[in-house]
Amino acid sequence: MADDYRVAVVGATGQVGRLMLRVPAERNFPAREIVGFASERSAGTEIEGLGTVRALSDESIGGFDLALFSAGASVSRQWAPRFAAAGAIVVDNSSAWRMNDDVPLVVSEVNPDALAAHHGIVANPNCSTMQMVVALKPIHEAAGIERLVISTYQAVSGTGKEAVEELARQAQAVLAHRQGTPHTGAADGLEVPIQPRVYKHQIAFNALPEAGSFADGDDHTDEERKLINETRKILGDTSIGVSATCVRVPVFVGHSEAVNVQTRQPLSPEHARQLLDAAPGVTVLDDPAASRYPLATLAAGQDDVLVGRIRRDPGHERALDMWIVADNLRKGAATNAVQIAEVMHQRGLLGIGAADRVA
Ligand SMILES: NC(=O)c1ccc[n+]([C@@H]2O[C@H](COP(=O)([O-])OP(=O)(O)OC[C@H]3O[C@@H](n4cnc5c(N)ncnc54)[C@H](OP(=O)(O)O)[C@@H]3O)[C@@H](O)[C@H]2O)c1
Repeated sequence: MADDYRVAVVGATGQVGRLMLRVPAERNFPAREIVGFASERSAGTEIEGLGTVRALSDESIGGFDLALFSAGASVSRQWAPRFAAAGAIVVDNSSAWRMNDDVPLVVSEVNPDALAAHHGIVANPNCSTMQMVVALKPIHEAAGIERLVISTYQAVSGTGKEAVEELARQAQAVLAHRQGTPHTGAADGLEVPIQPRVYKHQIAFNALPEAGSFADGDDHTDEERKLINETRKILGDTSIGVSATCVRVPVFVGHSEAVNVQTRQPLSPEHARQLLDAAPGVTVLDDPAASRYPLATLAAGQDDVLVGRIRRDPGHERALDMWIVADNLRKGAATNAVQIAEVMHQRGLLGIGAADRVA
């Protein structure tokens, strides 16, 4: 078994992929080489200190111990099994494999034991689910979760780099319009004189109750379905009731979530605060009198999940309300992928090769 690994990052030119290139070194993960892959469009592009980006081909994907994927579901469906067959453990950040029964869906602080059952592919959860279950795990262990009512306020970086550019472009256009500087349209007030491309409506200075998309006539978005289904799979309890409304807001980085947690056993806000204070990967910021609580601007750039506004729900004796915020690109994506690799390294599950894995 190797103890320093050859790592592929697929989607290396994207927002998450760029972090996947950096986070292993930040965390002293034992990687002897990191190779970036992206589409044909980016092949040959230089990545600072890590050589050039490669295109995916059967010839280029051999000899890796670990492949961190963040290039969307269709790329994962096509290429993750090929990397796994060629000997790598794939940690996939897309939705392609998350709900497959034989693919572990893992948050490093929550259910690392699920990794033992892998068959070469491990799924990294959706960003909104990821941060929420880190905070919910100690509460579920102590008092059992019966029902969750969740409203998310999700950053545009969760959609991809084109969405970040769309928000910046629209915000500049609206501000230019309001300042009376020359612009291209005739809209008044806060309406943007640019046709939206990534979202169905203007995202600048707006809140869109359609994070993800409505598939096949469903009245929930796919993002809401992910939150419902992935939460149950990770916490290992399909009986948990989950109601979710996912909203896209004009924030660049950092998802915020208002979560109402109804427990099976009584749990006071004070006890919940103690549990969260002791939980790995959680920082409690909860001093409302001093206006101290989690903010997207505080969470951006760091790995902990921030929790605050912990209080009794006046409408239910066994329910608490809380506000959960994290960096969707770090803990919500790249950092957890590397943490999964760390656990697999510690447990002797990396560097084995496809032929020697227990089927
Ligand atoms: N952003 C988040 O908060 C977040 C959180 C959790 C999960 N995710 C998931 O992570 C994935 C990527 O998100 P992102 O925000 O990093 O997206 P992004 O910034 O748009 O980057 C997409 C990456 O995928 C690459 N790619 C696209 N088509 C490809 C192809 N045919 N073959 C190889 N590479 C290809 C792109 O390469 P080019 O530059 O060459 O086009 C780029 O490197 C998505 O599945 C997303 O759902 C994102």
